[in-house]
Amino acid sequence: MNYARAKEILKIRGQEQLLEYFEELTQEQKTALLNDIENTNFSILKNIKKNETRVLGKLAPINAVTVQEIARRRMQFETVGLNLLSEGKIGAVLLAGGQGTRLGFNKPKGMFNIGVTRELSIFEQQMNNIKEVTKITGRNFPLFIMTSVTNNAETVAFFEEHEFFGYPKDRVHFFIQDVAPTCDFDGKIFLDEKYRVSLAPNGNGGWYSSLINSGLNKVIERENIEWLNVYSVDNVLQRICDPAFIGATVLKQCRCGAKVVKKVSADEKVGVLCTENGKPAIVEYYEMPEKLKNKKKKGELVFRYGVTLNYLFNVHDLNATLSGKLPYHLAEKSIAHIENGVKVKPEEPCGYKFETLVVDMVKLMGSCLAYEVEREREFAPVKNSTGTDSVDTARELLRKNGINL
Ligand code: UTP
Repeated sequence: MNYARAKEILKIRGQEQLLEYFEELTQEQKTALLNDIENTNFSILKNIKKNETRVLGKLAPINAVTVQEIARRRMQFETVGLNLLSEGKIGAVLLAGGQGTRLGFNKPKGMFNIGVTRELSIFEQQMNNIKEVTKITGRNFPLFIMTSVTNNAETVAFFEEHEFFGYPKDRVHFFIQDVAPTCDFDGKIFLDEKYRVSLAPNGNGGWYSSLINSGLNKVIERENIEWLNVYSVDNVLQRICDPAFIGATVLKQCRCGAKVVKKVSADEKVGVLCTENGKPAIVEYYEMPEKLKNKKKKGELVFRYGVTLNYLFNVHDLNATLSGKLPYHLAEKSIAHIENGVKVKPEEPCGYKFETLVVDMVKLMGSCLAYEVEREREFAPVKNSTGTDSVDTARELLRKNGINL
């Protein structure tokens, strides 16, 4: 694209600020900026106009496979899951493309040292959890790791440096998450540098389309993988490719499964898995009507199952239902950008990022097994540096589970 064409397009779209510093740029920088403009998805901006308040349908609690039922039927569930794992029908997807702003750690979150007297990164802890399963099946499942443009190089180097934590290197596939432009509250796209359009990862729901865009779906097809266990980088206690979870989802004939925990209180900031107009849906804590949030029966919260970001998706159904259908959500964030010729990073949110969410995938799948796990054994998210869901609480839970820190 040349300058004249870029100017014309930007004028029509009301985005001429992107060329504000063009005259100051070197030839190379001019080319980079024109390329960025050519590749910018301007149509994403129409999401700003739509009403962001979700209109909720009729909500009802979901029936979960409870901890008690799992204890009774563990053997049956595990047998089915272990068979599928042994046959190579299962893969795992680690979502590690987030920016981890709340933790305030300026490297990929998985590199954070959760150890105290020894080095134990979050990545290593999670790889140890994986090996507990592969030890039983004797078969290493493929692990797809989603990184971002910003953290990919460091993440890959960290795995290399640690020899993939004892996991076979050829079973680990990295892919970079797709991006979307960022803009101010008036919808003007930011410049990240005078010669670069500001881009950010397109939310944790971007994993499947990013995986396809990277070409890694070929691995899934070649190996005939039927189910993908998608999990977040921050829960250091979660079981990955848990045979009983896989078996229960298959035996209950669900198209996806979600590991859930009982909420500690009505106000806990987790999404709740319930049904909306009869179909499984996840309602974020800020969307749940107060009355329903606090509703109790026999002393227990009625809407009690919080999601832990550990899902099992059927690959066939992902292909059939997802193509291009995920809605974009606006996330108000502090975004570093060029303002009056200099780079600024406001403390407060200054604009929007556009994100797709994995919770919307669950809704599109149409059926989802709520699989209850014991929080003390499987849910230790590292979101903040102190307080709730922090490094401190995660360390305490790891110790309780016998992990030497
Ligand atoms: P969070 O929603 O907690 O976001 O991610 P975050 O970016 O890690 O942290 P904050 O909100 O900035 O503090 C939940 C999971 O989804 C992944 C994260 O890496 C984490 O595993 N994620 C999130 C992505 O992979 N890509 C994204 O664009 C966003």
